[in-house]
Amino acid sequence: MGKVVGMQRSPKHTLNNGAEIDVLGYGVYKVPAEDCADLVSTALDTGYRTVDTAALYANEEGVGAAIRGAVAAGTPREELFVTSKVWNTDHGYDATLAAFETSMDKLGLDYLDMYLIHWPCPDQDLFIPTYKALETLYSEGRVRAIGVSNFEQEHLAKLLDATDVVPAVNQVELHPWLPQTELRALHASLGIATQAWSPLARGQILDEPALLELAATHGRTVAQIVLRWHVQSGHLVIPKASSPRRIQENLHIFDFTLDAAEMGRIDALESGRRSGSDPKLMK
Ligand SMILES: NC(=O)c1ccc[n+]([C@@H]2O[C@H](COP(=O)([O-])OP(=O)(O)OC[C@H]3O[C@@H](n4cnc5c(N)ncnc54)[C@H](OP(=O)(O)O)[C@@H]3O)[C@@H](O)[C@H]2O)c1
Repeated sequence: MGKVVGMQRSPKHTLNNGAEIDVLGYGVYKVPAEDCADLVSTALDTGYRTVDTAALYANEEGVGAAIRGAVAAGTPREELFVTSKVWNTDHGYDATLAAFETSMDKLGLDYLDMYLIHWPCPDQDLFIPTYKALETLYSEGRVRAIGVSNFEQEHLAKLLDATDVVPAVNQVELHPWLPQTELRALHASLGIATQAWSPLARGQILDEPALLELAATHGRTVAQIVLRWHVQSGHLVIPKASSPRRIQENLHIFDFTLDAAEMGRIDALESGRRSGSDPKLMK
């Protein structure tokens, strides 16, 4: 069992427009709507300040209720960072603006911290007008940062050619099996932060023998070892968990270090295995 002591805090990362986001936030994909407010409140009480939701997750109401509750109890709104995403069925300029209003109504917030295009959906070929809607929202101050998710090199190249604001973030599937090495190098050259979704490969990676050994060496859980590998690799990370114990455990990774050889052992787990969809195929 990993060590868990008191309230933790994630370090901050400064995005390419100066906005600050926590390196480690709480992701709420598949958190049921009826549990979402309680679990996000638990995460905020634990010390999380960044929450990742999406229209698709059908739990924006719960995220908003927890954020508003924390602000009412004295947490400055500026300390908190809420991300949502426009879903694939709402691509296009006008549809995206309308989808944003629907999300904001559900969240009940005055502004959003970050709005992402959830998937590029290359077959629809609408991600440029979709992103132009995000640029409008950004210029109007409705959202503090804009970005993309699941964009591959070719999608980013096309986007950058046709739009003005370099995405603050590209949120992609990333874990030791799928380290996204080339994409991360491109992000670094463009000033785009890499945010890892399914950082634990949806829990499937937690039986890897090398990770179990490293967990035993450090007296940590395998999840903590994997999350530590992410932050030392320079990724932003948003693990999801459903119990207070795991929510705490996942944030409690900023008081130990993996050495270069240990990082190398985890890097060596690369296999190309995905736990989610391939961006080229998502309609
Ligand atoms: N942009 C995108 O397309 C996209 C796609 C997928 C996800 N995301 C975002 O990324 C977030 C994280 O991804 P994810 O939810 O797919 O997967 P994940 O965070 O890699 O894994 C979550 C799974 O790991 C388990 N887990 C979490 N902490 C654990 C611990 N300390 N020990 C043991 N098991 C643990 C969870 O179990 P319990 O829940 O039972 O605790 C859950 O089954 C999502 O919530 C969402 O915000 C974005």
